[in-house]
Amino acid sequence: MIESTKQPIDKINTPEKLEEDFLTDQSLRPSQFSDFVGQKETVENLKIYIQAAKQRGEALDHVLLFGPPGLGKTTLANIIARELGVNIKLSSGPVLDRAGDLAGILTNLAEHDVFFIDEIHRLNSVVEEYLYSAMEDYTIDIMLDKGPSARSIQLNLNPFTLVGATTRLGNLTSPLRDRFGVVLRLDFYDENELLKIIRRSASILDVRIDEEGGHEISRRSRGTPRVANRILRRARDFAQVKSNGIIDIHMAKDSLDRLGIDETGLDEMDRRILDALVNKFSGGPVGLDSLGVAISEDARTIGEVYEPYLIKEGFIQRTPRGRIALEKTYLRLNVKPRVEKNPPGLAGNRPTLFEN
Ligand SMILES: Nc1ncnc2c1ncn2[C@@H]1O[C@H](COP(=O)(O)OP(=O)(O)OP(=O)(O)O)[C@@H](O)[C@H]1O
Ligand SMILES: [Mg+2]
Repeated sequence: MIESTKQPIDKINTPEKLEEDFLTDQSLRPSQFSDFVGQKETVENLKIYIQAAKQRGEALDHVLLFGPPGLGKTTLANIIARELGVNIKLSSGPVLDRAGDLAGILTNLAEHDVFFIDEIHRLNSVVEEYLYSAMEDYTIDIMLDKGPSARSIQLNLNPFTLVGATTRLGNLTSPLRDRFGVVLRLDFYDENELLKIIRRSASILDVRIDEEGGHEISRRSRGTPRVANRILRRARDFAQVKSNGIIDIHMAKDSLDRLGIDETGLDEMDRRILDALVNKFSGGPVGLDSLGVAISEDARTIGEVYEPYLIKEGFIQRTPRGRIALEKTYLRLNVKPRVEKNPPGLAGNRPTLFEN
């Protein structure tokens, strides 16, 4: 039996948006391409598409942005609207649950406006299908009257750009995905890029941080700007109360340690995932649902929020039979993977382990 662990954990390092991020996300959010660090290829492409659409006097093609949380999807959507010189209307998949609400928004868009739908993979199918004709030929059908006299009329919309954001490209239906002319992936940031972001945020927040302190935070921020900004804010508090207000290497290390972020940038939840994978499921393969039950975390959150970074860093791998732990995880947990005794492919055959 798998016992579940229920202690609350500090989600300081989660890339997911927390309530405390709301205001700083706004103030630290770059509003133009020149302030947007990294994602070079994506930005170059977007700039060209925007310029071309403007030259032709047309709406920009619909844009789908995908990638793990906190990497800049919402930020880019806002920049796109600003660079196009149009208004942006924001909504999200779970909020937009009635076709009537969608029709209300679409009919109010001005020419070439941007309509941003966050978490677009969570739209319900009725609303999603309603979106198809709007995206394809800027028309929607509206029902007039009810009962026997009900009839539908077709309404023309102003040409607009739909910008969709998702953490899970695989969860999008293909009819929806195919209606986006531009599909762009956001990747994790490298340390230099994060350092630039931290410096920019520090100057906006009026925090003093030295070179080494900045490096330490950027190295342990999960490749994610939102996480880097959050750690910076917490380190500022520690530096202000415990020291002279300057975030140097000691202050940075001390803050990261206090926040439970280890040398490699993993937090408590990451460690629980790796620990369960190896010690409760013998290194896998295991499905996200079972893993979720074992550590009392939502399977979707593990898959969308934590797993991408653990995969990128080579701790775990996704296989058709489930998630498996890679060598780096065994090394880290100081557990030796045992070579499989049975020939591969036998049902129920899993790599088993023995501890050092
Ligand atoms: N390229 C960047 N340069 C500078 N800061 C950035 C960059 N990308 C993101 N940020 C910072 O990170 C914060 C989070 O980014 P954003 O809200 O755009 O992420 P997201 O991908 O929309 O996340 P989610 O999937 O949770 O909605 C922003 O408020 C901004 O401060
Ligand atoms: Mg967002």
